[in-house]
Amino acid sequence: MSKTAGSPQAAQQQIKVTLSGLEPRQYSIVVAPDLLNRLGEECAQVLAADAKILLLTDANLAERYLETAMASLKTGGFEVFPLVVPAGEQSKSLSQAQQVYETAMQANMTRKDAILGLGGGVIGDLAGFCASTYHRGMGVIHVPTTLVAQVDSAIGGKTAVNFGQVKNIVGTFHQPLRVISDSTTLDTLPKRELAAGMAEVIKYGLIETSCTGQSGFFQWLLDQAQAGTLRANFAEMIRRCCEIKAAVVMQDELETKGLRFFLNLGHTFGHAYESLSDYGLLHGEAVAIGMLKALRLSVSLGMFPETVEAQLETLYRHTNLLGCVNRSLPYEPETLLGKMKLDKKNRDANIRLVLPVDAIGQVVVRDDVPDDKILKILAQS
Ligand SMILES: NC(=O)c1ccc[n+]([C@@H]2O[C@H](COP(=O)([O-])OP(=O)(O)OC[C@H]3O[C@@H](n4cnc5c(N)ncnc54)[C@H](O)[C@@H]3O)[C@@H](O)[C@H]2O)c1
Ligand SMILES: [Zn+2]
Repeated sequence: MSKTAGSPQAAQQQIKVTLSGLEPRQYSIVVAPDLLNRLGEECAQVLAADAKILLLTDANLAERYLETAMASLKTGGFEVFPLVVPAGEQSKSLSQAQQVYETAMQANMTRKDAILGLGGGVIGDLAGFCASTYHRGMGVIHVPTTLVAQVDSAIGGKTAVNFGQVKNIVGTFHQPLRVISDSTTLDTLPKRELAAGMAEVIKYGLIETSCTGQSGFFQWLLDQAQAGTLRANFAEMIRRCCEIKAAVVMQDELETKGLRFFLNLGHTFGHAYESLSDYGLLHGEAVAIGMLKALRLSVSLGMFPETVEAQLETLYRHTNLLGCVNRSLPYEPETLLGKMKLDKKNRDANIRLVLPVDAIGQVVVRDDVPDDKILKILAQS
């Protein structure tokens, strides 16, 4: 980690995401406190002065932040059309998308205009999906307000709505024009949502070296958590996560080369717990359980040092994840294994797992781990 943590220099750092392919593109991720007040200036970096903005948000966020966001965008000279949808996963639907299209049509929006999604992953995925389909594709600007969205869903260009009870089954790849992450918005995020986001943050610590060739983020998180300074350094923490995800996306934009698969550490185990809990567990909570299982499996296979488990648990304790990880859950190992076998990322009948290997930060993809080894880990409380 850089030594400039918390300095004004660090606060202004931007992460550039450069994408090759048929249409080379570049966009910036800006992470700093109090950015909502500067939304107008930030959007002016990527939109024409006469562009219209459809501001999509949910009811929880509208109550807290819509006025500030609208005022800031208007100061920037933009004509703004707000649309507030209900909070929650059910808003990632084609019927909500229809509302977005109707608002865009009523405002006579065209391809030079943009949708700005102010909210968590639900809003970001819906905003991105609508932007990629309306007028054959218009710009989307992400203003993520949950930790999950700031470190994960706003970066990488995946968009989706749910359909026929299947999550994320209808979607596109559509990279944003800009990502504007205001770390101050996390002050109002419910504690449980924050903890769930921390699981994805910790995941970056465990895959960093395989994604970027660098190391040290996991130790930095541990040091900050133990010193009680993590909260004060959220902007720095979010930036490092964005750098790691951006490094992956730049090399494997469309998930065709395998690198993007590393982002699934803890997810194959996690999805099994998440779905058996009937989504009573938050995604990040299930991933926290899954990462611990993946680590234990690596240790049992002789691939990874045993000592790291205690460090991971310390980090979980300081980030309010240990309670949910230690809670005894009523799922039979065989049922969990059955769910893992259904994971859509598997090839053939083999369970594909990302597993820590050798040292913190390094992972490997394995699809040859015998069922009985996995069952043994699932049976541990
Ligand atoms: N596109 C991707 O690559 C990607 C990656 C990960 C997750 N996702 C998707 O993201 C979604 C989950 O996103 P999420 O975890 O951000 O949940 P979310 O968007 O549902 O937000 C969680 C809750 O927090 C509230 N909230 C958001 N920001 C707040 C704030 N600053 N203060 C107070 N309340 C706030 C919301 O209103 C909501 O009730 C899922 O649909 C998932 O599929 C997508
Ligand atoms: Zn995840």
